[in-house]
Amino acid sequence: MGTEKDILILAIESSCDETAAAVVKNGRTVLSNIISSQIALHTVYGGVVPEIASRKHVEKINQVIGEALKEAGVGLGGIDAVGVTYGPGLVGALLVGVAEAKAIAYAAKKPLVGVHHIEGHVSANYIENPKLEPPFLCLVVSGGHTHLVLVKDYGVYEVIGRTHDDAAGEAYDKVARAIGLGYPGGPKVDALAKEGNPYAIPFPRAHIEGAPFDFSFSGLKSAVLNYLNSCEMKSEPVNQADVAASFQQAIIDVLVGRTVAAATEYSMGKVALAGGVASNSALRAAMQEACANHGLEFYRPSPLLCTDNAAMIGAAAYYEYRRGVQSGLDLNAVPNLKIGER
Ligand code: KG4
Ligand code: ZN
Repeated sequence: MGTEKDILILAIESSCDETAAAVVKNGRTVLSNIISSQIALHTVYGGVVPEIASRKHVEKINQVIGEALKEAGVGLGGIDAVGVTYGPGLVGALLVGVAEAKAIAYAAKKPLVGVHHIEGHVSANYIENPKLEPPFLCLVVSGGHTHLVLVKDYGVYEVIGRTHDDAAGEAYDKVARAIGLGYPGGPKVDALAKEGNPYAIPFPRAHIEGAPFDFSFSGLKSAVLNYLNSCEMKSEPVNQADVAASFQQAIIDVLVGRTVAAATEYSMGKVALAGGVASNSALRAAMQEACANHGLEFYRPSPLLCTDNAAMIGAAAYYEYRRGVQSGLDLNAVPNLKIGER
């Protein structure tokens, strides 16, 4: 690609509670990555309030895009395409990014590329791993998704495993709330678990009959709640760090076990992590060890690129653009968009 012209993507992400914009060169080099987080605003409510999220996106988005362009040292004229998350996510939040991207694409006469949020998470792996190319197996673990995805080629995905109920991040957030850690729970459980014994409490590891690569976390969540209730009934003290560590170990055993089994079954030599939960320190360590033990190459984005950001959307948009995929100015937000669909 040395002699080819550089492709610059302006990427926009507003599917949940981060207003984000980035400029990405050739799908792999991040020229800017601006994230305006609303976490503090939603914390008082114990979770994301969709209406507040949409309003904040409207307030912030122009400023965030302006900063992304400025930091990248490029004007709209220097951009080759505008990439934007159009699903899945909160419809009102998504619409802010989609409307903005359409307006910019129209005004600056640039192609528009709609991006699937989860395909963005997967593509975050390309950014810091210049040698990573498909095919590989990716475990996507976010607040809304737990998927085992075969990345067969750039932009070509097959979901081979999924959760039947709660997503991994959702389980983290619910358990965090139950032990009084508050929102967002994942990073807090991650930190507290470091002080606890991961084998103190035997929480369940669910298997799904006939679906070896699927997941279920609602039983684990209930087991944690039952454990906390029974301690209260018996007036026994709860060791929160042990609860956090034992819950986390149960999740990680299942995630890592199923990922390695799927890699073997599908003859994938490369395994990647993606999504907010992929920033979990214990999951990263456990997956790294398991991959080393099974002779698998292991990839994961740095923590900042695991949680919601626009650089990952720029990476995904680049490969869509290269494949000739473009969206019309009638692009709409699709809150329940399926992976691999357009
Ligand atoms: O990918 P993401 O930023 O947003 C979605 O697309 O959902 O993921 C957010 C989820 C939340 O459930 C959050 O608690 C979880 O990722 N999370 C973590 C950690 N950091 C974020 N879970 C476990 N350990 C972490 N360090
Ligand atoms: Zn996400």
